[in-house]
Amino acid sequence: MDGFSTRAIRAASRSPRVDQRPTSVPIYQAVTFSSETTDELADVTNRRLPGYSYSRIANPTAEALGSAIAELEGAEAGFAAASGMAAVHLALLALVRAGDRIVCTRAVYGTTRALLTGTLARLGVTTDFIDPTNLRAVEAALAGAPARVLYLETISNPTLVVADVAALAEIGHRHGAAVVVDNTFATPYLCRPLELGADLVVESATKYIAGHSDVLAGAVAGREAAIDAVREAQVQTGATIAPFSAFLVLRGIATLAVRMDRHSATAAALAAWLTTERGVARVLYPGLPSHPDHAVAARQLASGGGMLAVELSGGATAGRAFIDALRIPERTASLGSIHTIVVHPPSTTHRQLDPAQLLEAGIAPGLVRISVGLEDLEDLRSDFARGLAAARAAVGEDGPAPGGW
Ligand SMILES: Cc1ncc(COP(=O)(O)O)c(C=O)c1O
Repeated sequence: MDGFSTRAIRAASRSPRVDQRPTSVPIYQAVTFSSETTDELADVTNRRLPGYSYSRIANPTAEALGSAIAELEGAEAGFAAASGMAAVHLALLALVRAGDRIVCTRAVYGTTRALLTGTLARLGVTTDFIDPTNLRAVEAALAGAPARVLYLETISNPTLVVADVAALAEIGHRHGAAVVVDNTFATPYLCRPLELGADLVVESATKYIAGHSDVLAGAVAGREAAIDAVREAQVQTGATIAPFSAFLVLRGIATLAVRMDRHSATAAALAAWLTTERGVARVLYPGLPSHPDHAVAARQLASGGGMLAVELSGGATAGRAFIDALRIPERTASLGSIHTIVVHPPSTTHRQLDPAQLLEAGIAPGLVRISVGLEDLEDLRSDFARGLAAARAAVGEDGPAPGGW
């Protein structure tokens, strides 16, 4: 008989036989998967045979998430990664090499901009930023010099610029660029960029897709060959999603449509009401007819989504007073959650931008970004009314007061 330790290890490692299909995807909390033979292990590790050997290469729970995202985005294949930034950098690593050029929307998430102008620039990849709503400028940027990638966001953080993905994909392809779209704000429930002509879609699943502010995750979806390159980049860089994280995202996906409907309905009601309030200079919400990109949004998005931005006429002082007076929202930097989240982009999500870049991206000092959660509309409305009263009091009823953040 084997010794105690041998028996203990074997006893604790025996997976139960399950003949009935579990109704949720099991968390395969294992790094190693054992093969019957040396040849089988070699074949599985080199992906000549389907199967698993080591979880940085492939894990069943992570693969279930990649497949689910692919199905929802209408893609041949999908790949889940450790965070949204992991997904963004894997998608780009799979496409570019030293000497390449990227043309990117200027209203891009701050850390994506930092990746492009920092890490990728150091590795010899240059980026030019364009206004995605100016199709002529995009055409000129792509015609001016070869570009490997045209990088876009369906709805841009934080000014809610809506990119005309179909038109931009056509221009990008005409100039030989692969079109990559960050679909985080829209999710595949509101928009499917691949159906509009994009080559790769990336998501921060940390946001709406998982939806509860309790897990970091990302995903890339596209054609099989492109996702193979993304997978290879991940195997080499290690941006692997944990099985428990993949499970949490899968659980979020099941209620994505219901949550997005509620986020959108509440955001639309709040946006319409905010336009009537004193002290509000501008409300940016793609579902409002006054939004500069409303026509594109109406064509491309199933609804206006859960994100809005408010420019307070009292500038930064009013913005601070507004945020600090709120009782319900969380004062934090994320979005796409059950909680309403209110943030001041210039000092948080877009801290990497200097004042000139902030101006160029349309981010005014009094801009407040609101990720509308799933709380009751009337509670949020009365809380925002309290915030606006505090903002007006901070600057005097009649106009802005000086002050910076
Ligand atoms: C549009 C967008 N893309 C990517 C990311 C990065 O996602 P993560 O925080 O999951 O790495 C974010 C994060 O806020 C984002 O807003």
